[in-house]
Amino acid sequence: MSSIINDLEQTALVTDEQELLSLESKYCSWGDTVHYLDPPKIFERAEGNYLYDREGIPYLDLQMWYSAASFGYGNQRLNNALKNQIDKLPQLACQYLHPEKVELAATIARLNESKFGLEGRVHFNVGGAQAIEDSLKIVRNATGKNLVFAFMGGYHGRTLGASAITSSYRYRRRYGHFSDRAHFVPFPYCFRCPYGKKREDCGLYCVDQFAKNFETEYNSFWDAKAGESEFSAFYVEPIQATGGYVIPPPEYFPALKKILDERNILLVDDEIQMGFYRAGKFWAIENFGVEPDIIVFGKALTNGLNPLSGLWAREDLISPEVFPPGSTHSTFSANPLGTAVGLEAVRMMEDKDYETITARKGAYFLAQIRDLQRRYPKVIGDTDGLGMALRIEICQEDGYEPDRELTDLIFTQGIRGDLDACGRRMGLVLDIGGYYKNVFTLAPCFDMTEEEIDISVELLEQLIRRCAPERI
Ligand SMILES: Cc1ncc(COP(=O)(O)O)c(C=O)c1O
Repeated sequence: MSSIINDLEQTALVTDEQELLSLESKYCSWGDTVHYLDPPKIFERAEGNYLYDREGIPYLDLQMWYSAASFGYGNQRLNNALKNQIDKLPQLACQYLHPEKVELAATIARLNESKFGLEGRVHFNVGGAQAIEDSLKIVRNATGKNLVFAFMGGYHGRTLGASAITSSYRYRRRYGHFSDRAHFVPFPYCFRCPYGKKREDCGLYCVDQFAKNFETEYNSFWDAKAGESEFSAFYVEPIQATGGYVIPPPEYFPALKKILDERNILLVDDEIQMGFYRAGKFWAIENFGVEPDIIVFGKALTNGLNPLSGLWAREDLISPEVFPPGSTHSTFSANPLGTAVGLEAVRMMEDKDYETITARKGAYFLAQIRDLQRRYPKVIGDTDGLGMALRIEICQEDGYEPDRELTDLIFTQGIRGDLDACGRRMGLVLDIGGYYKNVFTLAPCFDMTEEEIDISVELLEQLIRRCAPERI
């Protein structure tokens, strides 16, 4: 026994990077997403827009923990909320109440009432996928049906239920039969239109195709005699996140919602990555003027501090009469640390005009990457952005065929930490998404200055010149 303790003490003291990596490779599961980089990168400290490695080299972060830390690493106001709660009421079994939970739920519910004119309630959990699971229960409970629509290119998490409505077969392949697998519908990814159309004259062909499914019972979705669809809900990301920050045309969601309303199908809005101003509005769906029936959220609500996720649902779907106590349970749901930070974060969003901030900085950033695209047309095929959700699609010389290899190379070179920013050694942290894994999905910190946006673009240019010298 004492030798095990000695070993553990030694493990705690390990500082050598090689030793850490070899311990990790032996004792940590590889089943999560760490081993996408070989060897995995170790960071030691974070502040504002930057991550710091063990040598103290700063890495400008353009992904902010997949948009979970949108308000900046070490945000003092949110850190203080966490510290205060640790000293006040750090733990509480979720069958009891604490004020922060109630106030946070009320704030979000009132906000939605003012935005959508709908009464509703908020239900908490811990991770995004778990909140998706809860939403699936609400949908099934309210409709008695388990079939849903979701988008090709959509991502809703990796629990079994969330995997069933996430398009990628890779996430399901090794886990048996998914009888409740969603029916996947093409997303309006206009740069690569699934129907080969051009946005200028397509007349929203994709919406017409979706509508056609309900035209006759033989198209398999609709029983005209009963006036009922076999499908209960459509799960959407207003802007596809993992799918590559794909922004639909403004007319798309209103046209889709019209069909859903006609067929009595619920709209479930997954705001886990795009919510809380990432796409320039509190909820990304507000950019499109439609009212969701359920909203699922997570990530940035606590700025990546103590995890908290949840959902808001219309009163008739979630009232205690239809969704009574014990309908779901998780020990850590509505945990006091998470709800305290979440409440402070929502108050901060009320105090600070993030709509203007994200619109201004996002537009500045987008203009810069559009300029980069103009100067490197043999590397960048498409750029787009809404609020501070931006995309850079890396393509072959023709500006269209996806170039996954070059995307990987740029990503791995950025993480080497040997770029030059005004005479200072620096790295660049990027995230890759997209149907072909060739899109840099940029989710910069909302506090980023214009000067730091300039540095980001300068670093991106250095990486392009280093990784594709023959194409510049
Ligand atoms: C849109 C969306 N939904 C769901 C999830 C799953 O959230 P979590 O990773 O917290 O389970 C994610 C995570 O990236 C996401 O982006």
